[in-house]
Amino acid sequence: MNREDFEFLKQDIIYFDNGATTLKPMVLSETITNYYNNYSANAHRGDYDISLKVDAMYENAREKVKNFINADKNSEIIFTSGATDSLNKVIFGYFKNKLKKDDEVLLTKSEHASNVLPWFELADEMGIKIKYIELDENLKVTMENVKKAITNKTKVISIAHITNVIGDIRPIKDIIEYAHRKNILTLIDGSQSVPHMKIDVKKLDIDFLVFSAHKLCGPTGVGVIYVKESLIKELKPIIFGGGMNSFFEYDGTRKYRESPSLFEAGTPNIAGVIGFGSVIDYLNEIGIENIEKYEKQLKNYALEKLKKVKDIIIYNQNSESAIITFNIKGIFSQDLAIYLNKYNICVRAGSHCAKILKDELGIKNTCRMSLYFYNNKEEIDMLVKVLSKDNLKEDII
Ligand code: ALA
Repeated sequence: MNREDFEFLKQDIIYFDNGATTLKPMVLSETITNYYNNYSANAHRGDYDISLKVDAMYENAREKVKNFINADKNSEIIFTSGATDSLNKVIFGYFKNKLKKDDEVLLTKSEHASNVLPWFELADEMGIKIKYIELDENLKVTMENVKKAITNKTKVISIAHITNVIGDIRPIKDIIEYAHRKNILTLIDGSQSVPHMKIDVKKLDIDFLVFSAHKLCGPTGVGVIYVKESLIKELKPIIFGGGMNSFFEYDGTRKYRESPSLFEAGTPNIAGVIGFGSVIDYLNEIGIENIEKYEKQLKNYALEKLKKVKDIIIYNQNSESAIITFNIKGIFSQDLAIYLNKYNICVRAGSHCAKILKDELGIKNTCRMSLYFYNNKEEIDMLVKVLSKDNLKEDII
């Protein structure tokens, strides 16, 4: 779908690394270039026309993000530098103030580093306990295992909606509903889900949702925190400076602004945020439901074809998303990725920043193909052809 919108795709390259970052439609660079060339003033600081235009464009992008995930208010949408930044700001700006020694945080072993390491740091600092929801034989989270992991000390469940290696879609609606009945909050990493399916934060009753713009055709250096309105008051800034204060005096007297400015100290990534706004319009035009439907068909096509490749091991055949994780028996994953690169096919190899998943998966390194709406069957056929070469092993060595 929509391949003509991507300058990148004019090259002879097959890009299957959309879990790492997606390609960018031309509308993004056009919007960013227009900002830098024609109205590159700062945001929220000037009283002249182009500065007011920047304010309007920046806040308009916030409005677009709000509508995209069906949040209620603009104050619930905070721009950050990416999902990692968002997670750190929620964990250290909210949970650090809420949790007490021995309180328990539930994660899973398939979480990405950014949803594990900040919790490790907080555990060292405060003595909170990290526990893992057991994964089933398909490396999925079941409600039964969620219930089993919860104790009367559990205060937060912090998990990806879709994981970045297994690509399983977690039953977050049920998890959130059950968690709330037990007075447990939820922090959902939507990095791999927001780009691929409709997320309605109100319907799901999400407390905190984080994601990155660059995984949904947007620029690098822009991320989002969605925080439910009732929780905003207790979210504290962890970065202080210009833009987030109303005034301060020499003696330390100061007054801070309200959300979202409170959490966006310093000059933000204005070009990126405005560019992200244009990309949201672009995705809305295609329709996120159409993207989801198309990807599903393409993934099933890829899976059926890949299953027939000699010596292939597919680790997530029962996953629902457009991520397929595999190895070829006897070939180190990185060697396979380098081999595919010879044919201009981009996949990611390694542990994919999910470094404790190896305990569950039984292997540390895998190849991952992750699809997006501009991929097509011809590209998949090419991958399968290259992986099916009789002399594959010799060609690698
Ligand atoms: N989290 C990104 C990935 O899965 C970087 O590749």
